[in-house]
Amino acid sequence: MEKTLVILKPSAIERALVGEVVKRIEQKGILIVGMKMMQLDEKILREHYAHLVDRPFFPMLVASMMTTPVIVMCLQGKDVVEVFRAMTGATNGRKALPGTIRGDFSMSGQQNIVHASDSVENAEIEIKRFFRPEEIFEYNARNIRFIYADDEI
Ligand code: PPS
Repeated sequence: MEKTLVILKPSAIERALVGEVVKRIEQKGILIVGMKMMQLDEKILREHYAHLVDRPFFPMLVASMMTTPVIVMCLQGKDVVEVFRAMTGATNGRKALPGTIRGDFSMSGQQNIVHASDSVENAEIEIKRFFRPEEIFEYNARNIRFIYADDEI
């Protein structure tokens, strides 16, 4: 099944929203197959945000992502990249719809609680960036038949 990479940013850690985000993931029926806390450094952030290097906010973004450790998660589910992006909401929390993570908990484009991969191709690259292969677990939820119909698995 499809996988995606999620980062619980310093804004999630500092505002004690880790449990809230994890709760939403679990309640949706998305499987957590990797999860760890790590301190990001400039090297990994310059790689992760390489597409934003020319944006005026780039230095602020890199600095803000190092202010506390973050929690990285690998999530698994059918169409999970698209599903979790929808749960995340628009980049800017002020524009994100109520009901989404950013819409409910963020007033900012930078302090916006979570990062989520934006495509299946990027998810594969990002999972490899943050996890070693042995840190991703292969298992199925025992209640999978109550999350999906037989022809969706
Ligand atoms: S954009 O602006 O359309 O390129 O946005 P996006 O590709 O979704 O992600 C931009 C990431 O940069 C972070 N960031 C900001 N975005 C917009 N404006 C400001 N001022 C800003 N500061 C930081 C934003 O949180 C996105 O981070 P990730 O981790 O990818 O969600």
